[in-house]
Amino acid sequence: MTKSTWNINDVPFQKGRIAIVTGANTGLGFETVLALASKNMEVILACRNMDKAQNAQVRILQKYPNAKLKCMPIDLSSLQSVRTFAADYLKEYQHLDLLINNAGIMIPPFSLTEDGFESQMGANYFGHFLLTLLLLKTIIKTPNSRIVSLSSIAHKSGKINFDDLQSQKSYSAVQAYAQSKLACLMFAYELQRRLEAAGSSSISVAAHPGLSNTELSRHLPKLASLIFMPVFTTFMAQDPSKGALPTLRAALDENAQGGDYYGPDGWREFKGLPVTVRSTRRSQKEETAKKLWEVSESLVGEKSPI
Ligand SMILES: NC(=O)c1ccc[n+]([C@@H]2O[C@H](COP(=O)([O-])OP(=O)(O)OC[C@H]3O[C@@H](n4cnc5c(N)ncnc54)[C@H](OP(=O)(O)O)[C@@H]3O)[C@@H](O)[C@H]2O)c1
Repeated sequence: MTKSTWNINDVPFQKGRIAIVTGANTGLGFETVLALASKNMEVILACRNMDKAQNAQVRILQKYPNAKLKCMPIDLSSLQSVRTFAADYLKEYQHLDLLINNAGIMIPPFSLTEDGFESQMGANYFGHFLLTLLLLKTIIKTPNSRIVSLSSIAHKSGKINFDDLQSQKSYSAVQAYAQSKLACLMFAYELQRRLEAAGSSSISVAAHPGLSNTELSRHLPKLASLIFMPVFTTFMAQDPSKGALPTLRAALDENAQGGDYYGPDGWREFKGLPVTVRSTRRSQKEETAKKLWEVSESLVGEKSPI
């Protein structure tokens, strides 16, 4: 694999530009906001817990006292909450340069969201699908804007199971996570095709962090956590500030192309600096992505403007 030559220090200042980062209070989202703030970008911390969001805001302001930050509530597992967030944002702002669909959960016990989605599909995919659709007209109006979607190495074992999208017939936490991350990636690719067809200057780019030591492992069973986590954190995973680099490159690299997918350049893409990486052939299936888009429009009750 080609080694990365991209360096965030070379990224120009972003004054006057505004970003929304979902799940910004911890892990990769927090590191993403920290880096964007270092570049003078105004950032909305879109979080489900306002105490945690404000705590993150304080920590960022300690490092960058002039950072322009705002916390806004969103629960991505509730379509109503996503609608309220988008309406509040659009009331106040006329443009959006960067939407980073970062928030996520991994391998929780089975549950359905209030809208009837399997919880990982709901928070990781459907919430972000609706959020993007609701903000899309404003994003498209903003020159050179971007949407960044977070996928995962786990997309490789994912399959979009249209017969049981919400895992109600049978639930494997790992498979449902993989499906949700494959859905995020296929969404990013389909969105790019649609933006291109609409002649838009906005682009859709995807990223995965490799393996990063964050709170994402919170649903691991206790015993597995005790045995596995020390090995994971010491040998396999990278610090969240490094894990956020593929997202940041997708968001800020002036040479990024719509439809690019960034991940770490190390062994098996576990660690390293961000480069474009390849996704599975399954993730590139246009017919499946189109079907997923249409099914999603119907399930979230919103028609895409493009
Ligand atoms: N870490 C890795 O190795 C890894 C690997 C591949 C992909 N990823 C992806 O990277 C993204 C960030 O994960 P992370 O590792 O930074 O995990 P994390 O430390 O657990 O952070 C996840 C963030 O998402 C938020 N969130 C979860 N459910 C939400 C909901 N319903 N509404 C709003 N916010 C919600 C969390 O809020 P609370 O703090 O309130 O729970 C938290 O801010 C995820 O999409 C994940 O799938 C991570």
